[in-house]
Amino acid sequence: MPKSSDILDRVLVMEMVRVTEAAAVSAANLIGRGDEKAADAAAVEAMRAALNKLDICGTVVIGEGERDEAPMLFIGEKVGCGGEGEAPAIDIALDPLEGTTITAKAGPNALAVLAIAEKGNLLNAPDVYMDKLAVGPGYSDNIIDLDKTVLENVSAVAKEKGVAPADIIVCVLDRPRHEKIISELRQIGCGIMLIPDGDVAGVIATTDEETTVDMYMGSGGAPEGVLAAAALRCVGGQFKGRLLFRNDDERQRAYKWGIEDLDKIYDLKELATGDVIFAATGVTDGSLLEGVKKLRGGKMTTESVVMRASSGTVRWVKSEQQLN
Ligand code: FBP
Repeated sequence: MPKSSDILDRVLVMEMVRVTEAAAVSAANLIGRGDEKAADAAAVEAMRAALNKLDICGTVVIGEGERDEAPMLFIGEKVGCGGEGEAPAIDIALDPLEGTTITAKAGPNALAVLAIAEKGNLLNAPDVYMDKLAVGPGYSDNIIDLDKTVLENVSAVAKEKGVAPADIIVCVLDRPRHEKIISELRQIGCGIMLIPDGDVAGVIATTDEETTVDMYMGSGGAPEGVLAAAALRCVGGQFKGRLLFRNDDERQRAYKWGIEDLDKIYDLKELATGDVIFAATGVTDGSLLEGVKKLRGGKMTTESVVMRASSGTVRWVKSEQQLN
């Protein structure tokens, strides 16, 4: 049996793109149709079918929810056509449609997203909120700290960047719960990129100088936090995440996933470690990727990115396919 690291290297890098492409193309049929559930279901079904063609013994560790709430791609579901003990055991974090509302409203930055790693290398995060703080590559270790204030974090990044704190641009999800962060950033004079949804793209934006985003702050889904961390493992940058629990039921779910310290602040490597591969295909146009485009003559184009932590390789894949 091949070692999973060999398989991650030789076969799966490009296969991952096929999987996210399939989900993006299916979801794209429902862009702007006002039906979040239908768009999500289309992406889920297509991603599952594509995963089940792969010769892997995959386990979904971040998925559509727990078995009783998600009919497909639920946490713990086995995917791939490789038999247990025959094909390499691979853990999979996925979000077939990151940005269901964005897709329904034809907004920017909806993605089909997937990360894979050898078994045990992705945090099995429950579907709760996570407080997130991220910064792009090139800063000294631990420059950001969830226990520090907004001003302290912005000032530390600004100092190393060689600019005034007011010159720092921070991406934040546009939510009432972020009022305090936004008002503190306004007091500093920072530029704030308020996004309606899609914090995986928001976190990744910190790694791309063209977006001008320096930092990401605020809470969003914990599963999306693991996916964003997987991407940052490949392209550099720092990420801190702390799970947030709204009630006892959520705390119990965390214990069920083996999480003992509920206040723990997770670093990048505690969320996604080892040789991680991250892939995403644009559903709608965004800062990271172009969305699916249907052209005349029955053709369509997709844009994807696939990255690998062990080599730091980032491949941009533009594909043209027949619509049928
Ligand atoms: P969905 O694709 O599941 O709709 O998630 C979109 C998203 O914006 C995520 O990117 C983010 O982590 C989460 O929702 C934030 O949750 P909420 O909308 O409850 O603030």
